[in-house]
Amino acid sequence: MLRSRVLGTGSYAPKKVVTNFDLEGIVDTTDAWIATRTGIRERRVSVTGGATQMAVKAGKAALKSSDVNPKDIDLIVVGTVTPEMTFPSTACFVQAELGLCPGAPAFDVSAACSGFLFALDAADRYIRTGGAKKALVIGVDQFSRIVDWSDRATCVLFGDGAGAVVLSGEKGNHGLLSSHTHSDGRGWEMLYAPSPVQPSRFEEKCAEKPYLKMNGNETFKIAVRTMEEAVKEALASSGLDSDDISLFIPHQANMRIIKAMKERMNLPDEKVVMNLEKYGNTSAGSIPLALDEAVKGGRVKKGDIILFVAFGGGLTWASAVLRW
Ligand SMILES: CC(C)(COP(=O)(O)OP(=O)(O)OC[C@H]1O[C@@H](n2cnc3c(N)ncnc32)[C@H](O)[C@@H]1OP(=O)(O)O)[C@@H](O)C(=O)NCCC(=O)NCCS
Repeated sequence: MLRSRVLGTGSYAPKKVVTNFDLEGIVDTTDAWIATRTGIRERRVSVTGGATQMAVKAGKAALKSSDVNPKDIDLIVVGTVTPEMTFPSTACFVQAELGLCPGAPAFDVSAACSGFLFALDAADRYIRTGGAKKALVIGVDQFSRIVDWSDRATCVLFGDGAGAVVLSGEKGNHGLLSSHTHSDGRGWEMLYAPSPVQPSRFEEKCAEKPYLKMNGNETFKIAVRTMEEAVKEALASSGLDSDDISLFIPHQANMRIIKAMKERMNLPDEKVVMNLEKYGNTSAGSIPLALDEAVKGGRVKKGDIILFVAFGGGLTWASAVLRW
């Protein structure tokens, strides 16, 4: 049976660090409030480049670590909701800038914070059905562009970043064991960002400042409940239970959400990847950035079972189980 195996990972976070103390000078907040309510201490902000540049850097690093010739990449999928252009897609720019196979399909997936897992799922389907042999899958977002820097309830939560993996279709037991994606558009008003090109149907919403809006409290409750269900579905479909998990890599939105999940799954700290204190919520960048750090930090070894779970605007949620 053909599976999507990860050959290499890469990530990129912009150099500019914005600490909670920096934010104290911008909005009415404190380092203590942000750290205790979210776990975030600092985030990165892209000052000169946009999502394309971050995606290219993460993709290049993933290609380097996988030792795959760029010309052999015959599929490029990018999860993002902050592309620099409405079209072409970020994936097309990545294809051109990294010299990936001309003619290979390249497209973006819009699933907010679940974007990377949706992109991974799409690439996996191409690979398993013979539509591609080697794929570059990237999650990237630049929320510094869409948050209202005068709204303390949201601007403290997000940051910019990207992560990438190179997948290869291989026979055997290693690779993606299961992948699930879900959406429920009825909950879209929980978390959204109006388009800068104002669509008439949403004129009322777009007449507000075109920034990200979030009902934090409700989103929090739904995120915990939904991610818990996603974990159960992932484990059941892979025939695993939480003791089998070597490493849990959840979307990095809030330390309290991750802790709640860790307790429900009865996982020890060393099996849970949490890096949001350094980056905040980087949306689609969050999971592949955390994966790359875990790989580089020696936390992943051959045969390990990794469980990923994400939740985001849409509403969207997703999971994946991977044998390394
Ligand atoms: C946003 C979030 C951190 C807020 O934490 P919370 O404990 O729910 O806080 P609340 O929104 O209830 O606000 C509590 C108080 O803190 C205040 N507050 C909000 N942001 C603040 C900030 N940055 N600094 C100081 N005070 C702040 C509120 O105004 C409120 O004050 P009040 O009690 O006087 O009205 C939390 O709801 C969250 O993480 N939500 C989910 C985020 C998420 O997962 N989003 C994306 C999914 S991908």
